[in-house]
Amino acid sequence: MANREAKFGGKHVIVTGGSSGIGKALAKRLAELKSELTLVARRETLLEETKAEILAAHPDAQVHVLPLDIADEAKVQAGLGPHLETRPPDMLINNAGIAIPGRFLEQDAQDYRAHMDINYFGMVHMTRTVAPHLVKRGGGHIANVGSILSVMGIYGYTAYAASKFAMQGFTECLRGELKPYGIQVTMLLPPDTDTPQHTAELEIMPAETKAIAGNVKMLSAERVADTLIDGMAGGRFEIIPGFDGRMTVAAHRWIPGIVRWVCDSSQKKAARA
Ligand SMILES: NC(=O)c1ccc[n+]([C@@H]2O[C@H](COP(=O)([O-])OP(=O)(O)OC[C@H]3O[C@@H](n4cnc5c(N)ncnc54)[C@H](OP(=O)(O)O)[C@@H]3O)[C@@H](O)[C@H]2O)c1
Repeated sequence: MANREAKFGGKHVIVTGGSSGIGKALAKRLAELKSELTLVARRETLLEETKAEILAAHPDAQVHVLPLDIADEAKVQAGLGPHLETRPPDMLINNAGIAIPGRFLEQDAQDYRAHMDINYFGMVHMTRTVAPHLVKRGGGHIANVGSILSVMGIYGYTAYAASKFAMQGFTECLRGELKPYGIQVTMLLPPDTDTPQHTAELEIMPAETKAIAGNVKMLSAERVADTLIDGMAGGRFEIIPGFDGRMTVAAHRWIPGIVRWVCDSSQKKAARA
């Protein structure tokens, strides 16, 4: 706990997607740790609701809300740029994202574009806007919220996994480039997490995907937020919340053939049912 307070207390942390799910849980935990917060998302009402919930629990909290679409580079620069001139940032958590599962042969081309525009380019636009300020300040921390599907692909997630693999490559390169400036970089790989996004995914998720995903235990958004905060305080690059998630990634790295066999078996059973 002392580590967390030293890391986040009094620091200005920008959280994209801070109005829902993992981002909202992060915002609440960071407010407890006395961070100054800037929450970014498209829907202003959800942002204001989150701000009100935080202020009800912590009346002294400093919370700014910026309603904008991170996929639009001009809007990110126009919305965030002037704000950062008066409120220099210490950390950026690129958490906003979308996930639209579906079978490749049935999925709309527009879905592929949307995943890259938000999950990948949204993160690039935010990082390009914030990183120069961290360089100027002589340090900081950037955390990117990927997924277990940043490092392995499963049935039903061609569009999503491609965008998260792109984020993984970007983040691994960025780590080395920003290190000389005292800026730490972290990659979070959450497994299924109980959030509004996941509930929406379940409504359209192919049965085969559900059968494969059922092999890994779902976590709460609070648990994922806590794991990220502890991992960032510990200066870790890769953070995987939950035992099942860590085992899945380790197995995929060391015995990928067996993991594919398990996925294929789950998929076959679901297709027969
Ligand atoms: N839930 C899971 O099972 C799971 C597992 C692994 C990884 N993740 C990752 O965790 C992150 C958070 O997911 P979540 O489950 O917490 O989702 P969520 O509850 O749907 O929250 C997503 C947040 O991102 C914001 N957002 C989406 N598109 C945006 C855009 N174009 N510009 C600005 N903000 C945008 C949303 O607000 P607006 O819609 O109002 O913009 C919302 O605040 C995502 O990157 C997701 O891929 C989730």
